[in-house]
Amino acid sequence: MGRFTDRTVVVTGAAQGIGAAYAAALAGEGANVVVADRNIDAGKAVADEINAAADTTANGGSAIFAEVDVADPDSAAALAETTAQRFGRIDHLVNNAAIYGDMKLDLLITVPWDYYKKFMSVNMDGALNVTRAVYPHMKKSGGSIVNQSSTAAWVYSGFYGLAKAGVNSLTQQLAVELGGNNIRVNAIAPGPIDTDATKTVTPGSIVEDMVKRLPLKRMGTPADLVGACLYLLSDEASWVTGQIFNIDGGQIIRS
Ligand SMILES: NC(=O)c1ccc[n+]([C@@H]2O[C@H](COP(=O)([O-])OP(=O)(O)OC[C@H]3O[C@@H](n4cnc5c(N)ncnc54)[C@H](O)[C@@H]3O)[C@@H](O)[C@H]2O)c1
Repeated sequence: MGRFTDRTVVVTGAAQGIGAAYAAALAGEGANVVVADRNIDAGKAVADEINAAADTTANGGSAIFAEVDVADPDSAAALAETTAQRFGRIDHLVNNAAIYGDMKLDLLITVPWDYYKKFMSVNMDGALNVTRAVYPHMKKSGGSIVNQSSTAAWVYSGFYGLAKAGVNSLTQQLAVELGGNNIRVNAIAPGPIDTDATKTVTPGSIVEDMVKRLPLKRMGTPADLVGACLYLLSDEASWVTGQIFNIDGGQIIRS
């Protein structure tokens, strides 16, 4: 028996990178996982890999793929419906999807307005949108939500950081609104994580410089984040809500 046996978890942005690592780890501990993403081919491949993994089958976990655009309320509602029909319940949600690897690099003051609105609708509002669609399915028996923030919320990083600061505040506000339904809402704020998306968006020289300034002198990996995500979703964290956990090699230290 795993910590998530007979539980259903929706992970958005799980077609690659950190979301795929969360999905695999949850299934490895017995969860029925919905790999939810706009990237159909990569998402299906992740679900197939999870179903083929020996530890998943041993613990009873499984995965399905569901296409979603987290910025679109109808698409989020369809995701919640598909999940509930397939598994009969939704216990946990990880709001991980974001425009990241292929994001435009521009300043807040000059970024084209349409791009900015689209970006915020995915990277900030997406978490609220999917939560609004999923929470009615959690209301009866309670549940937990993890939002994917970033240390970018606390250091200058333009509209990307602004969206993550919004995710932090959303986490605190929703923790208050949903606590009465025994639904916990927390966030993970990773530092620089070695994913394909980071390689695309951040030049190697900037990453090297960032790593030099970290107390723990290496980039993080998706595996470094998995333990915190599973803890926050699990019953072990049953009195933890509204918190933002930095998993960042010591990048953010308040003195
Ligand atoms: N990699 C890092 O260094 C790092 C650090 C801190 C936080 N984060 C955050 O972690 C999360 C995952 O990062 P990653 O490196 O794995 O990035 P990634 O770009 O590899 O993964 C993002 C996923 O989200 C999906 N997605 C994008 N827009 C979507 C939409 N509208 N609807 C549904 N799915 C959508 C993409 O298809 C992709 O599969 C993101 O929220 C990112 O901001 C990453």
